[in-house]
Amino acid sequence: DWTTDNVIDEQVAAIREQVGTKRAICGLSGGVDSAVAAALVQKAIGSQLTCVYVDHGLMRKGETEQVEKDFVAATGVQLKVVDAQERFLAALAGVSDPEEKRKIIGREFIRVFEQAQAEIVAEAPGDQPVEFLVQGTLYPDVVESGGGTGTANIKSHHNVGGLPEDLEFQLIEPLRKLFKDEVRMVGAELGLPDEIVQRQPFPGPGLGIRIVGEVTKDRLDLLREADAIAREELTAAGLDREIWQCPVVLLADVRSVGVQGDGRTYGHPIVLRPVSSEDAMTADWTRMPYDVLAKISTRITNEVADVNRVVLDVTSKPPGTIEWE
Ligand code: XMP
Repeated sequence: DWTTDNVIDEQVAAIREQVGTKRAICGLSGGVDSAVAAALVQKAIGSQLTCVYVDHGLMRKGETEQVEKDFVAATGVQLKVVDAQERFLAALAGVSDPEEKRKIIGREFIRVFEQAQAEIVAEAPGDQPVEFLVQGTLYPDVVESGGGTGTANIKSHHNVGGLPEDLEFQLIEPLRKLFKDEVRMVGAELGLPDEIVQRQPFPGPGLGIRIVGEVTKDRLDLLREADAIAREELTAAGLDREIWQCPVVLLADVRSVGVQGDGRTYGHPIVLRPVSSEDAMTADWTRMPYDVLAKISTRITNEVADVNRVVLDVTSKPPGTIEWE
């Protein structure tokens, strides 16, 4: 029988058996999945776990601070924060292809984890080696990356298909059989607060796959502003539960003519992609109130330089995926 207690007991036993007296690291992304995976592994092996938060510069506004505060406060976990912004930007320079971006981001994550591993070992040289990497991979990630049931590969989710082949870690993936709603239940049972457990999904590769075109610092800053405005207005309108998630996408390779003040502009469009879903395997576009859309549109075009148009994505999944890349 499926109960959260059973899942937790089963996973805790399996993790203890797998890790023994060795050590593990877990990448925290700020999302629900990595948080629940980390909490579960911490329950199993306690201080043998160190969480690593990679600040790759592809995060949304306020995300880093939230991880540092909320998650550590809730779990008391050992946290290592790595500033890797330069490194990710350099690796992504000149790249526009979505799959290539995903692979690069996945690879850079692992390189940063390897570096963190070396530092953790150097800090406590007498302790057991760090051999394990915890990943918050869910069942839909496995299926959609082609790793589960032989279905076609849709995208390389960075924590599944996007890992480099010369991976030095053994993976711990305690959520591999679960759907999102089950992960939320497990997280709540483990005592994580609502701010973490009810958070909307956000992809590991972050804003890097929400810029159609090359990822640059300026474009990230612009998208971060637009995204923060959309999230603020959706929250203010009380739509956070009704909407599964609302990717905000910058069409960096597209420009259109506009008029602002007394002048002609030639700026970029921002796409709003509010979706309703049960498990992200399928989704429908959310019929959200026009006045909320209007407010978001007005604010983004007024407040974000170089954006002169806001468009709404009215495609279900399938045929569109939730993210644009
Ligand atoms: P798609 O775009 O495939 O997204 O319809 C389905 C769900 O997965 C999230 N997503 C990811 N999550 N790493 C993640 O952890 C990834 O590489 C990734 N790609 C997509 C997406 O936000 C949606 O919730």
